[in-house]
Amino acid sequence: MPNIAYLNGEFLPLEEAMVSIEDRGFQFGDGIYEVIRVYQGKPFGLVEHLERLNKSAKAIGIALTSTNQEWEAVIREGLERSGYLECKVYIQVTRGVAPRDHLFPKESSPTTVITFRQMSGLSPELIQQGVSVVTRPDLRWARCSIKSLNLLPNILTKQEANEAGAFEALLIKDGMITEGTSSNVVLVKNGTLITPALSDQLLAGVTRQSVLEIARRNGRVVEERAVPEEELTQADELFLIGTTIEVLPITTLNGESVGSGKPGKVTNMVRKNFHALIHGN
Ligand code: PDD
Repeated sequence: MPNIAYLNGEFLPLEEAMVSIEDRGFQFGDGIYEVIRVYQGKPFGLVEHLERLNKSAKAIGIALTSTNQEWEAVIREGLERSGYLECKVYIQVTRGVAPRDHLFPKESSPTTVITFRQMSGLSPELIQQGVSVVTRPDLRWARCSIKSLNLLPNILTKQEANEAGAFEALLIKDGMITEGTSSNVVLVKNGTLITPALSDQLLAGVTRQSVLEIARRNGRVVEERAVPEEELTQADELFLIGTTIEVLPITTLNGESVGSGKPGKVTNMVRKNFHALIHGN
């Protein structure tokens, strides 16, 4: 079976799944989403992703029509139907279809979409080499802890980074690092892991939570706090984390080498342990 979609209660081939042009997701970006990786048929961090989906929905006043058990059942059915063992599950819920008006519609029910796409990870060469990043101003709104569909500043900034030859942009707000356009970031200094503390300025990444747990379990000190931009250039190691990129070493920052210019020891330790976790050994 090719890539498939689930749309408001029905499974169908992905290219046949259609929503109205008056869907508020289309007209306003009025909705929320989650991206979940499936390894060997098992969704990683499913409970945490569903928890965050519920929080995002609540934060913008969308009443989800499924319980977590129902989400889980639908995702499992989708995985079975697709036959995919390695895949990316994308969930999107919008405020539904209504004549265009900024105010919430009096009557509408959420549009629920889930897509199941085959996916393999980043190339081993890229991971071994590490990636380059650039810093850019954080142009986003004041509630980045909500996983909102409104990604215009993220996509504009990531495109800019790409055109500057970088893989990702690290976002700077009031002199402080927040996160990447589609990732969280960790600095390593003298063996300590440092990452921006959770706040409205960044997404509470599911990968972030696992990675920090791994670091602590391996006896590392982890500092979750405000991180001034200057600390980036003083770091021994930097790495990106996220569902699609897992743990990805950063070896170049604004055109300069990070540390030795090669993926660092702590980054590799975290990466190895994260790999063991997602593959269940
Ligand atoms: N993005 N920060 C931002 C802004 C993100 O968009 C993401 C993930 C993360 C990492 O979160 P997690 O570990 O839960 O994936 C942090 C997804 C993958 C995306 O938009 O495609």
